[in-house]
Amino acid sequence: MLFVAVCFLIVVLYWYGTRGYDYWAKKGVAYEKPIPFVGTALRQFTQRVSLAQAAEEVYRKYPNERYVGTFLGSQKSLVIRDPELIKSILLTDFMYFHKRAVLLQETVTDPLARNLFSVDGDLWKLLRQRLTPAFSTGKLKAMFPLIVERAVKVQDLADEAAKIGATVDVKDLMARYTTDFIGACGFGIDMESLEDENSLFRKLGRRMNIITPRDAVVFMLKTLFPKIFKNLHLIAPEIENTVFHLFETVAKQRNYKPSGRNDFIDLLLTLKEKGKLVGDSIENFNPDGTPKVAEAEMDVELMVAQVFVFFAAGFETSSSSSSYTLHQLAFHPEEQKKVQNEIDDVLSRYDNKLCYDAVKDMKYLEMAFLESLRLFPPVGFLLRSCTKKYTLPGTNVTIDKGVSITIPVQALHLDEKYFKDPEKFIPERFNPDRIKDIEKCSYLPFGEGPRACIGERLGHMQSLAGLAALLHSTRWSRRPTLRHPSPTRLRGTQKEGYLCIKGELEELKTTY
Ligand code: HEM
Repeated sequence: MLFVAVCFLIVVLYWYGTRGYDYWAKKGVAYEKPIPFVGTALRQFTQRVSLAQAAEEVYRKYPNERYVGTFLGSQKSLVIRDPELIKSILLTDFMYFHKRAVLLQETVTDPLARNLFSVDGDLWKLLRQRLTPAFSTGKLKAMFPLIVERAVKVQDLADEAAKIGATVDVKDLMARYTTDFIGACGFGIDMESLEDENSLFRKLGRRMNIITPRDAVVFMLKTLFPKIFKNLHLIAPEIENTVFHLFETVAKQRNYKPSGRNDFIDLLLTLKEKGKLVGDSIENFNPDGTPKVAEAEMDVELMVAQVFVFFAAGFETSSSSSSYTLHQLAFHPEEQKKVQNEIDDVLSRYDNKLCYDAVKDMKYLEMAFLESLRLFPPVGFLLRSCTKKYTLPGTNVTIDKGVSITIPVQALHLDEKYFKDPEKFIPERFNPDRIKDIEKCSYLPFGEGPRACIGERLGHMQSLAGLAALLHSTRWSRRPTLRHPSPTRLRGTQKEGYLCIKGELEELKTTY
């Protein structure tokens, strides 16, 4: 009897752990073979590869496919290899793919997870509409003096180090610069991260960039059993508490009213004063096809979640892309010289003062930055989720609501089909005359379409300003004994690879 019960249990467990695993086979789609419960994601769950690396591996393994099926636990996912199809998903057929579905549960219990990056549907649309003005050209120009102030400080630090021939940990330096800038532009407070490497904000930035065993376990449980573990918070309590504390402190100082500083917290407080967020629904329609009205309350939790994403999405992306640019220039002295000559030349036309227009004129620096983003995209893959039945254009494959889409950005950027000598650092690829030759949707460091990065220009301009300040006065070199690390080798494992500027070694981490 016991034997029969055990056998029955095993059969039930096996059925439960493999349900839906014939999905891609039934549709005639090439797919990775899943194992019970974890699907094709065992190494992602155990933190042996990042999600970006896993997508890159699938991309390389199936060179002749336009798309490949995988399973993240029981979640069906399609890795899209073909830029034409990527264009349909991100742009043309956006109405089928407006969700990112990073949270696999319908009701969000994590207060900070109600941020623009993670939410979907009507709340995403309402927030995106209301937050977009915070990133306009006017706002960017208005905050530029704050950026320049930080850029000058970072330049002073580098000058000091250069005078005594000291080594500089560039990743840390750029992280402190970015932290200070986010503090000033986002929160209107001086974070002093450049003076004090243990400032509250710097600590917060460091913690956000680490995946602790607790974070890994929570991610796995929430992905495998979203309903059972719906009340677990994806974002660690220490991060949650610090961000709430920070927002409360600043908002209280301002009497919960806009202070006229025009920073991000002011924008949120202004939105709160205006009352409910109201707009057209992206999900619900009247019988005549017109959109229903969607509403959301701008409560404190929703504001804090947006403050969190300003930091979480803006910090590591900007600091890693600017430090990788310096890293590449240290390995390519000729290109570095070209960048420096350009900076000197442009600044001489602007009274040797860094300003918005001067940075805009630094075309070669921008090309070097874009090329570094190609080699080392801080966000290695994009996510979308199918919102209603969709037939992949040019095929007879129809995917269902809830199927997740992975766009392997990192892999596309290193495919020689789209970039000749993909492992080489060649800023000229992004020469304005040649940029049009790059195949649409094969280069996606900021994503594409209505859900592309909202902070692209801000991230871009503040990274260039920091780089211009650092390269204007200092020549950057690597420790001579170090081999040139190729992007593939750096990504070999999460811990392999070193950044070496002026002799300092630092481990590189994959962001996503
Ligand atoms: C070099 C710097 C940056 C890079 C490479 C970058 C990259 C990205 C990428 C790839 C996405 C996903 C796009 C998609 O799914 O199509 C994204 C989304 C986002 N980024 Fe950035 N980002 C950068 C800087 C910033 C900054 C400075 C901020 C804000 C201060 C920011 C805020 C966001 C937000 C809120 C989203 C979600 C947008 C939405 O879903 O509507 N990013 N970013």
